Parts: sequence; C-alpha cells; structure tokens
Amino acid sequence: MNSSNPDGTTGAPAQKRTAVQIRGLRKVYRTRARNVVGVDHVDLDVNAGELVVLLGPSGCGKTTLLRSVAGLETPDEGEITIDGKLVFSSSKKRYLPPEDRHLGMMFQSYALWPHMTVFQNVSYPLTSLDPAARGDVRGRVHDVLTRLGVAGFEERFPSELSGGQQQRVALARALIGKPSVILFDEPLSNVDAKVRRRLRAQLRDLKHETKFSGIYVTHDQEEAMELADTLAVMDSGRIKQLGSSRQVYEKPNSLYVAGFVGEVNQWPAEIVQVGPSVVHAKTNFGTFEVHCANSEMQIGQKGVLAIRPERVDVGAVGAAVADPAPRVRGTVREVVFLGARCEVRIELPGAEVMAWLFEAVSHRSPPVAGSPIDVIFEPGSLQWLDA
Ligand SMILES: Nc1ncnc2c1ncn2[C@@H]1O[C@H](COP(=O)(O)OP(=O)(O)OP(=O)(O)O)[C@@H](O)[C@H]1O
Ligand SMILES: [Mg+2]
Repeated sequence: MNSSNPDGTTGAPAQKRTAVQIRGLRKVYRTRARNVVGVDHVDLDVNAGELVVLLGPSGCGKTTLLRSVAGLETPDEGEITIDGKLVFSSSKKRYLPPEDRHLGMMFQSYALWPHMTVFQNVSYPLTSLDPAARGDVRGRVHDVLTRLGVAGFEERFPSELSGGQQQRVALARALIGKPSVILFDEPLSNVDAKVRRRLRAQLRDLKHETKFSGIYVTHDQEEAMELADTLAVMDSGRIKQLGSSRQVYEKPNSLYVAGFVGEVNQWPAEIVQVGPSVVHAKTNFGTFEVHCANSEMQIGQKGVLAIRPERVDVGAVGAAVADPAPRVRGTVREVVFLGARCEVRIELPGAEVMAWLFEAVSHRSPPVAGSPIDVIFEPGSLQWLDA
C-alpha cells in the first residue's frame, strides 16, 4: 500500500535533486608554525535551484569551503559530489580538477583578466567546451551581456569600466557556460553600497529566471539574508546553524548566531523555574517567563536572556495596561533618529535595553531623554540562549 505524504499525495515523496553534497569535509593548513583548521567536519547539501549563503566572520572557513568545492583546495577528509558526480573523496582517493567540475565561479580574487577585452573575458569559459557545445560564441556573449545591462562594452578592457560594470562582466563570465552550480566568494565587496544593492536585486532576478544552484560567501548580514534560500552561519570552520533567513533570525540556536544576524539585547540570566514548555529566567531587573522547547533545562543553569530591539516597545508610565506583556520601569538615556526608526536606549536596574521604534507605524512621537518610561517586551519574544 502506498503511504500518504504530508502534502496529501501518495507514493514515494518526490526527491529533490542535490546539486552539491558535502560530507565530513575537513581541511587543515599545515604552516611552519602550526596547523590551522580551515574547515572542520562540514556536512552541507545544496538542492537544485537553491542558493546557500555562507555567513561568518573573517577566518571562519568560508573561502576554504568554497575553494574545496571548486577543486582549488585539496581537503584532508570527506567527500564532495556535484550533480551526482563524486568530484572529491579522501577515502576513495578521488580528485577531479576544477576544469572538470563544470562550475561557474565569481570570486573577488578572480577579478577580470586585465589584458583581455570584455569579450575575451566573458567567452573564456566556452573555450574549454567542445566546438559543438560552444555554439554561436558572439551571440552567447552578446545575450549574457545584454541581460546584465553591459552590452556594447565587448571591445573595452576592464580598466576602461566602472567597478559595477566590471562586476557585471564577471557575473556574465560566471553565467555564460550555463553551469548548474555557481560559486560566489564575496563577489560584490569591491563596489559601493548603492551599486551592490542593485547587483543583488539583479542576481535575485537572474536566479528566478535561470534557476541556478549556488554557494554564496559573504560576511555582510543583510546581503546574506536577502539572497539566501538557506543560510549557513559559520564559526571556526564549522556550520553553527542552517536554515532559512527567517528561521535563523527568529530562532537562533546560540548567542553567537543571534548576534551575527542582526542586533540583539542580551542579559546574563539564570533559570529559576522549569515547566513543561516554559522556563523562568532571572535577570538583574526581574524574572521572566520564556518559551523553551529544550526539555533538558535545569534550575540554576546560567545563560542569556535575549530579545531583538524591534520586539521592545515603550509605554507611558502609569498608563492603563490591558495586555499581559512583561513590563519593566526604566529611564530613557538616549534617543537617536535614524529616519525609518528611532533607536531608544533605556536604563533598567542594573542593565540597559535598546528599543527600535517605528514612528510611521505607531504614529507616536519618540520618548524624551531623561524621562521615566515603561519598557514592554512583546509577548513570546524573549528567548533563552546558551552563552
Ligand atoms: N593558504 C593558507 N595557509 C594557511 N592557513 C590558511 C590558508 N588559507 C586560509 N588559512 C586559514 O584558514 C582559516 C580559514 O580561512 P578562510 O580564508 O577560509 O576564511 P574566510 O571565512 O574566507 O575569511 P574572510 O572572510 O576573511 O575571507 C583561517 O584561519 C586562515 O588563516
Ligand atoms: Mg574568504
């Protein structure tokens, strides 16, 4: 009998094709002084049509992971499969060179070749194809440059283009061979904020149109959240959390991840009561109920109570309170107007809290520095995080 799937269909669930599969990947750099772990036992799947963004601080292993997939680095342990083909295996002693992995690449360090024209740069990946697979090279170059808004520059050299135009030409070069997987290593870090925003939007459009799969490395949190189908937050060669941008932002599994994707208020806290799905966490300025799925929590456990600043509101002292939201009395220390929002820094007994207020939404004027105020935590938004 066929089993029933969660979507109501019967039979075997449809298998998502895996574009890149990484298992147990480890890379150690052996320098004269000491061994440096670049990537430490990483498992990662990139499904067809999915863009996985690796986000993490400098030195956490993003480039090492990407270069290992590209074949530019030889890992010490693990396996890498691209489009069902085993391209690296330490145990099976298999290593396929980069040119046989059929990947598109757009690396910051792989800037355009300065001695080649735009046409020569963009058409270069086609030269490794059989003549039959190359097709009409001029036509293909023209199509991809048109799509990216840089047609007409074919005979120019990279030094005769703006930074944004160069990045678009580099993207054209990554796309022209219609690779099923594209690797990006901080491709937009050399262009100014405005151009970067435009290129990101263009990249999202391209992804909808061409459905390429990819791994995209950045340490820009906004860029990561904007582009990621799946976000992988890395630390010291390991993936700390994997999920959609929303999952990672709203349900970070550690203080490290919470602080890496966005701002977060955090206070040292101790568990003083444990219930079936809630715990009570004690801080300097009060004890708060926190929803908690982890059933292993113990009384006396130390950690951090956290809340995003946009989940903190303020209310006039003494105003009638209808909702059950937790409140704490504080004093406004500073109000900073940032256009779309006001950042309000409030002093609490033995602590400080940041609230982001969106005046256009609340239709209220901002609080005044020095005045007493009630801090209101949005129900369900306080989180317990292991330090
Ligand atoms: N060729 C190398 N020889 C020795 N150590 C290296 C080499 N390349 C990288 N490392 C080390 O491996 C670790 C990971 O480096 P990697 O370049 O992957 O980091 P990253 O996350 O890409 O950082 P960034 O954001 O600065 O580009 C770092 O500690 C780095 O110093
Ligand atoms: Mg890097």
